[in-house]
Amino acid sequence: MKIGRNHAVNEKKIIITGASKGIGREIAKEIAAHGGIPILIARSNELLEELAGEIEGNNGFCKVYPIEKFSREAIDKQINEIMETEKRIHGLINNAGFGVFEKVEEIDMKELEEMFQVNVLAGIQYAKAFLPHFLQFKGRSHIINIVSQAAKLPTPKAAGYVASKHAMLGFTNVLRQETRESSLTVTSVNLGPVKTNFFELADKDGTYQQNVEKYMLQPEKVASKVVHSLFTNRREINMPWWMEAGSILYRLFPGLMEKALKSQFDKK
Ligand SMILES: NC(=O)c1ccc[n+]([C@@H]2O[C@H](COP(=O)([O-])OP(=O)(O)OC[C@H]3O[C@@H](n4cnc5c(N)ncnc54)[C@H](OP(=O)(O)O)[C@@H]3O)[C@@H](O)[C@H]2O)c1
Repeated sequence: MKIGRNHAVNEKKIIITGASKGIGREIAKEIAAHGGIPILIARSNELLEELAGEIEGNNGFCKVYPIEKFSREAIDKQINEIMETEKRIHGLINNAGFGVFEKVEEIDMKELEEMFQVNVLAGIQYAKAFLPHFLQFKGRSHIINIVSQAAKLPTPKAAGYVASKHAMLGFTNVLRQETRESSLTVTSVNLGPVKTNFFELADKDGTYQQNVEKYMLQPEKVASKVVHSLFTNRREINMPWWMEAGSILYRLFPGLMEKALKSQFDKK
């Protein structure tokens, strides 16, 4: 079923990190289709320009801000450039991220540091930098963090990724409480497996993708949910619903669930 347009998105400038591929790319297209102006951030300039061409070809508007690397210095520089040029930003979607499926003893510490830099620290840096700007205006603003069901339902062979997503969900829940009295909404998006390029790195031999193929979400469906929630007071988006139900049961009965669902948890 096609749901109608979210009019609150019209002419709003919304930053999306990791907009070059997958979920971020679909969210950007969906924002433009709702009359908003996605501010596209990623390292792959070529892919961003291609996306901008597609959006403009469909009579939409967008802005492109490539970044060489998600380092603290590069992000600081980029945020200043965005603020100077755009003057007013209405939303931020922290989406850039990656994962690697490996056992704890196989963790490459350099890769883990990079994962925390991209999945956690960069998101916190963008949110902190735009927070005073969002709080200064009376109109509604929105920070959406694309987290994962991995933040709620930890499964083997993903300790580094799971830890990074737990950190980001914790951050999101605190930021929401600290800004409760303001017109800023803070939302976490906790997803099960989504059919994107994510698995090219995460699951090089394809075992996990093969095991979960039949219940993978489509990025277009995720993007539609996210964009329809923009500038509402939605606390969380959890997809698919039955995985969220599993997460709730896990919080209630962790030991029992780890035993009973061992074969389900061992899909990687
Ligand atoms: N796919 C899933 O099953 C799934 C499930 C739950 C949550 N998520 C989360 O959803 C978000 C988007 O993932 P996706 O599935 O759309 O994956 P994707 O298709 O691989 O896209 C990832 C995006 O993040 C950026 N990115 C990747 N590595 C980066 C790095 N080292 N430094 C800076 N940017 C980097 C990429 O842009 P550049 O390479 O151009 O910079 C790309 O635009 C991630 O936070 C992921 O954890 C995904």
